[in-house]
Amino acid sequence: MSVAKKEYKRITVKSLVDMKKRGEKISMLTAYDYSMAKIMDGAGIDAILVGDSASNVMAGYETTLPMTLDHMIYHATSVVNAISRSLVVVDLPFGTYQSDPKEALRSSIRIMKESGAHAIKLEGGKEIKESIKRILNAGIPVMGHLGLTPQSIYKFGTYTVRAKDDEEAEKLKSDAKLLEKLGCFAVVLEKVPAKLAKEVAESISIPVIGIGAGNGCDGQVLVVHDMLGMTKEFNPRFLRRYLDLYSEMTGAFQRYAEDVKSGDFPSEEEQY
Ligand code: KIV
Repeated sequence: MSVAKKEYKRITVKSLVDMKKRGEKISMLTAYDYSMAKIMDGAGIDAILVGDSASNVMAGYETTLPMTLDHMIYHATSVVNAISRSLVVVDLPFGTYQSDPKEALRSSIRIMKESGAHAIKLEGGKEIKESIKRILNAGIPVMGHLGLTPQSIYKFGTYTVRAKDDEEAEKLKSDAKLLEKLGCFAVVLEKVPAKLAKEVAESISIPVIGIGAGNGCDGQVLVVHDMLGMTKEFNPRFLRRYLDLYSEMTGAFQRYAEDVKSGDFPSEEEQY
């Protein structure tokens, strides 16, 4: 018996590196559920990040710290079920990779095995070098994340732009080089000066995906709820809103409530 195969070209971690070589920018968005991921995949978004920002936009927590491995696996599985083409990268949540490399590998294996995702992402440079090595040695692709790393928010104290002073900028540059040397396939740079991000992107061969890091990066990532305009309070300078879904959805919910209360819904045609 032969099984019909779908015709599509899957994006792999190598595709992203090749895109950088060709000078083709990489599009990445976050997603946490099946329906959103299906639309994104169909729209041609190259990579989908199952971010621990699910903590903020899905669960309503103030920080990303409460996310657990089970939460991430649930979101990642929902996204993977929707995908035909995009690369799916999943955040290792806070507390599942920092303490020791063996735990980092165990956490990564659970994500890959239980969700079917294609790669993991973790926050930090030199401090988590041994964890990154251990995960990569097991054949799991790793994306780094430098600059503003939200899992360390209590160390930073604020969500303002990082690496504005020379010392932090130097550390960021050397961490980016280290991630490349270790074998990471890409690195996210969050909320750092555009000039610094461009310099980093030009100094390493792996793609630099920016969020609030300017136009010199090899690609961009945004949190989907923000770019669709579903969140109202979050208004950083780097955010471009492509829709005003907050207003659109409010209008739809109000019209529905009115229709139900007035008896207009359901009509003759909408019943059996
Ligand atoms: O969790 C997330 O959404 C992220 C992006 C902000 C890069 O890490």
